[in-house]
Amino acid sequence: MKFFIDTANLNDIAEAQALGVLDGVTTNPSLMAKEGITGAENILAHYKKICDLVEGDVSAEVISTDFEGMVREGEALAALHPQIVVKLPLIADGIKACKYFSDKGIRTNVTLVFSPGQALLAAKAGATYVSPFIGRLDDISTDGLNLISEIRLIYDNYGFQTQILAASVRHTMHVIDCAKLGSDVMTGPLSAIKGLLKHPLTDSGLAQFLLDYQKGNK
Ligand code: G3P
Repeated sequence: MKFFIDTANLNDIAEAQALGVLDGVTTNPSLMAKEGITGAENILAHYKKICDLVEGDVSAEVISTDFEGMVREGEALAALHPQIVVKLPLIADGIKACKYFSDKGIRTNVTLVFSPGQALLAAKAGATYVSPFIGRLDDISTDGLNLISEIRLIYDNYGFQTQILAASVRHTMHVIDCAKLGSDVMTGPLSAIKGLLKHPLTDSGLAQFLLDYQKGNK
């Protein structure tokens, strides 16, 4: 399973990259705003900085909601850097734009996916990635992980190449469960990635090894 980090924070991206397990980055307009990145020029410059920090795919989201606007924005984003993947919302014009970009060989990430039917549409339109938001489904007492299983079944039934990118991942158990269910990618905060490191037996075992080494090497 690929690990993407879901942030526009350059320090977090650099820390995950330095750990050596990062495969890409996802962003959205809310994450950009959270970092205080506003204005078209600054946003494009920030995407470039992210691409320079990491080796993998970097999802950059359009803000237009009509086909022409999405195509215009998406083409500008894709031209910015070869690592950019154009992120499109799952609305009718987003699906049309997805088909347009996939026909042109431009990679896409269809976002704001909350049902298996939406994921089927994204795959039919040739999306590179589909982003089901598992945390937001959990937030409304719906089983977000079940959506990953349903999409996996549908895609495997027909051999769709669209990669399942579990999004709105909030914690380490989401990461582990997504891996068990066969998600192709997960995107989450740095805390969800670093949380995988933690085990008290690792800490106590290492402390004992170091203590025993010191005793024998006085
Ligand atoms: O990747 C989608 C993500 O940014 C949404 O996460 O935590 O705002 O639901 P969250």
